[in-house]
Amino acid sequence: MLQIDMVSMLLYRGLKLALLAVVILAAGKGQRMQSSLPKVLHPVAGWPMLRHVMNTAIQLKPSQLAVVVGPNMQNVADVAFPWPTVIQDKQLGTGHAVQVGLSALQNIANHDVLVLYGDCPLVTAETLENMRRIFDQAQGQQQPVGLVVLGMRMINPTGYGRLVIDNGLLKEIVEERDTTSDQKKINLCNSGIMMVRGTLLPQLLGLLSNANAQNEYYLTDIIKLANQQGQRAVVVATEATEVLGVNSRAELAHVNQLMQKRLHQQVMQKGVTLLDPNTVWLNADVKMAHDVLIHPFVHIGPAVVIEEGAEIRPFSVLEGVRVGRFAKIGPFARIRPGTEIQEQAHIGNFVEIKNSTVGKGAKINHLSYVGDATIGQSVNIGAGTVTCNYDGVNKYPTIIEDESFIGSNTSLVAPIVVGKGAIVGAGSVITQNVPADSIAVARSSQINKLGRATKYRLEKQQSKEKK
Ligand code: UD1
Ligand code: CA
Repeated sequence: MLQIDMVSMLLYRGLKLALLAVVILAAGKGQRMQSSLPKVLHPVAGWPMLRHVMNTAIQLKPSQLAVVVGPNMQNVADVAFPWPTVIQDKQLGTGHAVQVGLSALQNIANHDVLVLYGDCPLVTAETLENMRRIFDQAQGQQQPVGLVVLGMRMINPTGYGRLVIDNGLLKEIVEERDTTSDQKKINLCNSGIMMVRGTLLPQLLGLLSNANAQNEYYLTDIIKLANQQGQRAVVVATEATEVLGVNSRAELAHVNQLMQKRLHQQVMQKGVTLLDPNTVWLNADVKMAHDVLIHPFVHIGPAVVIEEGAEIRPFSVLEGVRVGRFAKIGPFARIRPGTEIQEQAHIGNFVEIKNSTVGKGAKINHLSYVGDATIGQSVNIGAGTVTCNYDGVNKYPTIIEDESFIGSNTSLVAPIVVGKGAIVGAGSVITQNVPADSIAVARSSQINKLGRATKYRLEKQQSKEKK
């Protein structure tokens, strides 16, 4: 109801909200990273930086989005997919890059254009919405706002473009290398993120020149040009921690730390206990329900879902796993992709599980490897059990049906089925299926030679004295 009212109100005022188009600049190789991987593919919380930026942009529901990449960056295009990429052959500057980006978009005049940087993964949808709101509010004002720039206050502004403000309006952006000594003191800086009316942007870009310290077409110069045309530009300021760019490995580490803090806050707000957040690593896509308990030194990799009340004990590493309600994992467990641990199951220390299902209430508590296995409800897997799932060429499945019991130090040579309620004796090497409700023992039987031990020791002693 409310939405309809707002739309009708705007229609009443004769206004029409512009569509949104997004251009993400990602053509830079990132020389300072000293890497053969393009900079925007370096991971932050397990995702390429570019994926964070795209994920945020998509929350604004743009009608178009294009990513500007450098030559030979198919791997960047793969991350951008299904959104289009456009190649900037030569890096002639951020202004030129935006121009290249626009060539992949249609009907720009109907859009507001948001420019984002692929190396700036911390920016939030909330802040970008704020920028957009300024445009919406400015609709119908006598002197409309043509450009909004996302600014940040820096304790040390060195290296950033400075925002020159007069009377509340942004007059120009001056690049570090082109600043006067007075301008160097300005600490309100350009994040690089800006939103420009689609009616304005192409012609402003057309006016850019590269007569500056770096001989580049600076996007930032469009502010001065817009002012010369009587357009108004404004600044939305945000925390520097939200717009820090990544140019070096040290900055990548810093941005990762900031992203971890943010993810910790998010899961704690949903009712997850992190006993020592600083030692817990979370992948960006982590999903945890309320009353999950995470102990110190836990690594949660990609594609992990942890359901209500589950507990992950110290030094456990999880990736690609669903952990069911009230299950307990660790300490020192390693759970690999393709795994489902069902509710109330227990996985203990030095247990590795890969591509397997562990049924409700099952226990694998010590020193085991379980791969390509389906383990039923309430199964007990003894210490040191190994599923021998690989013959050097192929992988084979192991099925252990409900309520069966596998004795310690058992090798289960796959493919193999242990039937419901069966018992396998400790130390067995199981190479044939075990029928339901039977006991299987597969090891040589024991011989006890009574009184032989003393004789044995005597013999050994005598042979030693002879030497
Ligand atoms: C830019 C801004 C500066 C701002 C800073 C914030 C300009 C001229 N300067 O400076 O005001 O304070 O970001 O971090 O815009 N890129 C291309 N093609 C190019 C050039 C750059 O795609 O031809 C991409 C880069 O890959 C990068 C982004 O644009 O993702 C920014 O370029 P970069 O050279 O890092 O700009 P800065 O010097 O940091
Ligand atoms: Ca930069």
